[in-house]
Amino acid sequence: MLFRLGALANQQSLPVRIDPSFSRSYRQVSIPRQANCLPGKICPDGMGNSTLAGKQPRQSTNRMTDSRTFRIGVLGSGKGSNFVALAEAIRAGTVPAQVAVVLSDVEAAGILERARERSIPARYIAPGKFRTKLDDESEAAFVSALREAQVDLVMLAGFMRIIKSGLLNAFPNRVINIHPSLLPSFPGLEAWKQALDHGVKVTGCTVHFVDAGVDSGPIIGQQTVPVLDPDTPESLHQRIHAAEHELYPACIAALARGTIEVRGRRVVRRS
Ligand code: GRF
Repeated sequence: MLFRLGALANQQSLPVRIDPSFSRSYRQVSIPRQANCLPGKICPDGMGNSTLAGKQPRQSTNRMTDSRTFRIGVLGSGKGSNFVALAEAIRAGTVPAQVAVVLSDVEAAGILERARERSIPARYIAPGKFRTKLDDESEAAFVSALREAQVDLVMLAGFMRIIKSGLLNAFPNRVINIHPSLLPSFPGLEAWKQALDHGVKVTGCTVHFVDAGVDSGPIIGQQTVPVLDPDTPESLHQRIHAAEHELYPACIAALARGTIEVRGRRVVRRS
């Protein structure tokens, strides 16, 4: 499979680039600690070690957003710390994008409040009659809000509903998620607890495209987190969360900047 992301606003089909070094393990190379690149992080271009980045220069042009800023729609059900991390990275100038809208299926979700504090449009949309997914009417309302906001990318940030084909088809290959494990290990709920119970020594987080399966789409980036002997589910979850706040903005920055090709399961630099 090879696809290109296109800017929705002008219906152009423009390429998106992701550094192929995302898929390397940090243990294969030695990574010096530097700002925005912690040990264990698989960095996008321009933010990491030159060995990992393949000595390719950071692109100053934004090929996906030649005429306008890359627009992100965020879907969340909870406190929204990943959204906050993205908003801070945008403010700091490390992610060339803007959050166009934040939507939630939970009226009192912290993520809506965090958005409003930042003067970002934020809306609650009732999820309908099901517990684990949106009903058709609600899904259509989410799609229409995202279309109205002219988003180029849909970022799931703790959205606790299964994403159905209606939304995926409306934004083909433009929906991404972060999962608190090194996929394909430990998909599903409480991945940090699954990792602890299984006894792995290293876990982490994964940013991936969303497809029809459970946490199964092509992997954009991963960051490792060691499991320590005294860890509890809570302490491990906390460290994974901190890693997420680094990895997610970094992956979105790479998406906003340039081109990727998704070849089968692999997300690679466009040749
Ligand atoms: C994160 O732990 C992420 O891995 C999962 O949902 C959680 C969202 O947390 N998909 P927050 O609302 O961004 O703080």
